[in-house]
Amino acid sequence: MQSVLKVEKIIFGGNGLAHLPDGKVVFIPYVIPEEVLQVRIIKDYGDYAEAEVEKILEASPYRRKAPCSYYGICGGCQLQHILYSYQIKIKEEILFDTFRRLGWKEEIPLEKVVSSSKEFNYRNRLRFHVENDKFKMGFVKRKTHEVLKIEKCLLGEDILNRVIAQLYKNPSWIKLSYYSKRIKIETSPEEDKVTLIFWTAVEPFKEDIKELLSIEELKAVFYWMKGRRPEGPFPEKSSYGGRRIFKNIDNLFYYVQPGVFVQANWEINCAIMETIRSWDLSFERVLDLHAGMGNFLFPLLHEKEVKKFLGVDTDLRAIEDGLYTAEKAGINGRFDLRNISAMEALYEAVKEGEEFDLVLLDPPRGGCKELMRLLPEVAKKYIIYISCDIPTLVRDLLILRKLNYELIKLSLFDMFPQTYHFETVALLERKG
Ligand SMILES: C[S@@+](CC[C@H](N)C(=O)[O-])C[C@H]1O[C@@H](n2cnc3c(N)ncnc32)[C@H](O)[C@@H]1O
Repeated sequence: MQSVLKVEKIIFGGNGLAHLPDGKVVFIPYVIPEEVLQVRIIKDYGDYAEAEVEKILEASPYRRKAPCSYYGICGGCQLQHILYSYQIKIKEEILFDTFRRLGWKEEIPLEKVVSSSKEFNYRNRLRFHVENDKFKMGFVKRKTHEVLKIEKCLLGEDILNRVIAQLYKNPSWIKLSYYSKRIKIETSPEEDKVTLIFWTAVEPFKEDIKELLSIEELKAVFYWMKGRRPEGPFPEKSSYGGRRIFKNIDNLFYYVQPGVFVQANWEINCAIMETIRSWDLSFERVLDLHAGMGNFLFPLLHEKEVKKFLGVDTDLRAIEDGLYTAEKAGINGRFDLRNISAMEALYEAVKEGEEFDLVLLDPPRGGCKELMRLLPEVAKKYIIYISCDIPTLVRDLLILRKLNYELIKLSLFDMFPQTYHFETVALLERKG
């Protein structure tokens, strides 16, 4: 079935939303608000439908030819056909739209929107699926489970693409990849090098790994077998145990083992640190419930009056890295990093009667609804909630509002240009 319609907005997920002549909502990928389109309905779900563009009748002035040749097939990017400045506008609208759709009635105190100075080549890590049948590495094709062979990803930093090109030709990696389903290549910006970690079903031959290291950009290789710690670094004498090195806003060096979470766009990560600092909050006891390797906790150390810093994370290797960073910087005495879950940390704090006047939340995409019951017993003044998923953030903010935490400030950071994803940082203050 064909139809002519006008795009109203872009929603979370990157699709355009429009209404069919009979009033039914329809979602269309790769479109821009205000465009008039001839579309074909590809699936009708009763309440709503999915359509694809057959012809653009009136194109948006913000439309451009997507720079990447995989665009439209690869599931990674959704907004490449839109000029970058307008992508930012769209993300801002997605933010407001999500708040309203989920029932937020008060003012939305959006303080600023920070775009990325690099609209391409910003990612410091790429994770590929590996398929040895016709040897390919890549991302999952849109709407399938099939792997799309990627030889260059425009979102990745240049050095990562240079390594990908060499991996495709490297006989050792071709052999090793036979037993591998996934590979991660990650930059170490302070050394202009790359680390590589691959998941494997069988123990690899060390000679193959040695041979792999002939790729000049590689600093270290690790491999990971199910149920074990990653093996590495190879070579054994790789500096700092093969860790990646990043510099934070205080020129403090972070040392991070391959595979441990690092925010994908480092410039934006530093902008988030700066923003949190600019709020100039006064606090004495800080608890970071998703501390990772200490990313957002270390920049708060400059606060002289702080009496307690506790960071927790379920990833043991991230905690090891935080402790390593603190030791290298000679600040380990001021820090407590522990490998326990956020929930355990809250239970313990409640049991010990410990209170914190600043609590940081930076959970994975699913948010942290489960923490809301205990949080008020521990978070006595401020909460800073950093989120890469606006629907779960708003869901949790609605709960926090009922618990008497007022949303004071909100900032949007474009950590992920060309995709519908972005990072939001919320500051909440407890009332009464
Ligand atoms: C988005 S990352 C943020 C890490 C860190 N704040 C950073 O910026 O690098 C989320 C972190 O939450 C951790 N995590 C996941 N589930 C957790 C839980 N139940 N309790 C504590 N940490 C958890 C992950 O290991 C990961 O390090």
